[in-house]
Amino acid sequence: MSEHQFNILVTEPIPEKVIQYLGEFGNVTVGEVGTYQNEQALIDDIGSYHALLCMLSNPISKNVLQAGKKLQIVANFAVGYNNIDVAAAQELSIKVANTPDVLTEACGDFAMGLLMATTRHFYQAEKYLREGNFKGWEPMGFLGPELRGRSLGIVGMGRIGQAFAHRARAFGMNIFYHNRRQVSADIEEALQATYFDDLNTMAAQADVLSLNCPLTPETHHLVDSNLLNMMPNHAVLINISRGPVVDEAALAEALQNGTIYAAGLDVFEEEPKVHPKLLEAPNCTILPHIASATFETRNAIGMLAAKAIVQVLQGEKEQNIPNLVSL
Ligand code: GLV
Repeated sequence: MSEHQFNILVTEPIPEKVIQYLGEFGNVTVGEVGTYQNEQALIDDIGSYHALLCMLSNPISKNVLQAGKKLQIVANFAVGYNNIDVAAAQELSIKVANTPDVLTEACGDFAMGLLMATTRHFYQAEKYLREGNFKGWEPMGFLGPELRGRSLGIVGMGRIGQAFAHRARAFGMNIFYHNRRQVSADIEEALQATYFDDLNTMAAQADVLSLNCPLTPETHHLVDSNLLNMMPNHAVLINISRGPVVDEAALAEALQNGTIYAAGLDVFEEEPKVHPKLLEAPNCTILPHIASATFETRNAIGMLAAKAIVQVLQGEKEQNIPNLVSL
């Protein structure tokens, strides 16, 4: 006999503190790494669960939601929730939660680090050293552009875009941004940020183009060969949002041809696969989707997702659950 009334599926191992917290309210099952990246595995198992704490790598499709006969809530262990069919969830009266705010600073730090690693060739230089090629200080080795005085064009001036902009200001960069809506005058002033209504105009002028927008039908392949061709040859592309915002084949070609100077990528179109031409592309930093990977942040993400689950299972009113999302 189960101890509790509710069954909760957590699709991957997450911080123990979060599992313990959920264990006070329900019977918690934790999936093995990678098992639920497969839609069928979710469909097969979801039927007996009242709540699902899932990863951004889990496809929470209409079929999965329909198979969740007892499901009341899907809480994503992420702020981006493009992996969840929110419209289908709404039709089926299943609530959806995400984890805004708690990962903003970790992602801002990471974006700055990724930009540094890319412009200053950290990984190529480290590989060179590890492979025994460092024979002495080289005046012409691994040169890259300085950031001071360069412009950072942010696509998506939400929480994470602003966190990156704050850090970039401290490095002496000038901030441009493109967003669905112009942000408030206070924010613009604090960041000394210039708004571009037109993305192409911004891309043509920015030394660094950073993607900080959600993946939606409108942002799918926002960076395609046309946009890449408009960017200056010395431009750097940074993507910590979602892989499909970039047409990876077009990016690999642009890096190969010198259409742009470099790219720093934490996300990929078909994770965990990386386009083979990107693996070979010069001047490309590629990391396995780790922007929010700090101890503090991953704990906070887990607790925020778990709290929404507990609130929904306890029948809390929607307006009292701040991280529920809707269309
Ligand atoms: C990570 O990519 C997130 O959306 O939280």
